[in-house]
Amino acid sequence: MQLNLLMAQTSFFFLSCNLFVALVQISAPAPLGKTHDPCFKWKIHDFSVLLERGAIPTNSALFHSFGHKWFLRVTPSHTKSFAVAPYVALSLGLSVGSLDLEPDYTVEAMFVLAIYNHSNGLNYGSEASYMFHINNTNSMLEHLIPLKELLKSPGFLAGDCCVFGVEILKVDVFPHEKEAVVVQKKAPTVQNLFIQKNGFVTRNCT
Ligand SMILES: *[C@@H]1O[C@H](CO)[C@@H](O)[C@H](O)[C@H]1NC(C)=O
Ligand SMILES: *[C@@H]1O[C@H](CO)[C@@H](O)[C@H](O)[C@H]1NC(C)=O
Repeated sequence: MQLNLLMAQTSFFFLSCNLFVALVQISAPAPLGKTHDPCFKWKIHDFSVLLERGAIPTNSALFHSFGHKWFLRVTPSHTKSFAVAPYVALSLGLSVGSLDLEPDYTVEAMFVLAIYNHSNGLNYGSEASYMFHINNTNSMLEHLIPLKELLKSPGFLAGDCCVFGVEILKVDVFPHEKEAVVVQKKAPTVQNLFIQKNGFVTRNCT
């Protein structure tokens, strides 16, 4: 009788131990999730040269999606604080031209900022959303991946080439536009960025 009780207590103890382990695993920081093909891909061919600029952000050329013009901004080495190792940070920008219809328009967007793994052909990213308006045309910086991790992952940094991407999932304009924008699925825009040490920048789109 007593032995049975002891065994029951012991198995309860093991059960709660397992539960504890499971909870700890869940609360660990979430890794980047697999994501579908971005509508805009930005192929940076000389990442090491971009990195020399440290915390200075670089903007892509504009691309079209959901009836608006956007750009991607990459900050190759962003530090949240002195205690935190630098991150590669991305943000989405809305072209001011897209907002000059009415000064009090707000564009709410949901999007995925992503990085491409050259080894398996998959994109990894995290979802974000932002309310754009005339005085707020850049989304918050998303800390995509620790810089150290990117530099040691041959999948993310192949040769000196790194591909970032953005997929815009949903756009709502307030006050509502008279006609809803018809979204056509089309081939992604790919932009190449070549930066030379002398600061000469070449861009081309396909
Ligand atoms: C990229 O893909 C390769 C091949 O599947 C995989 O081994 C590697 O872990 C991936 N890299 C990252 C950083 O996820
Ligand atoms: C944007 O900034 C200008 C100048 O600071 C201000 O007058 C205007 O009210 C702001 N507009 C919005 C929509 O916040």
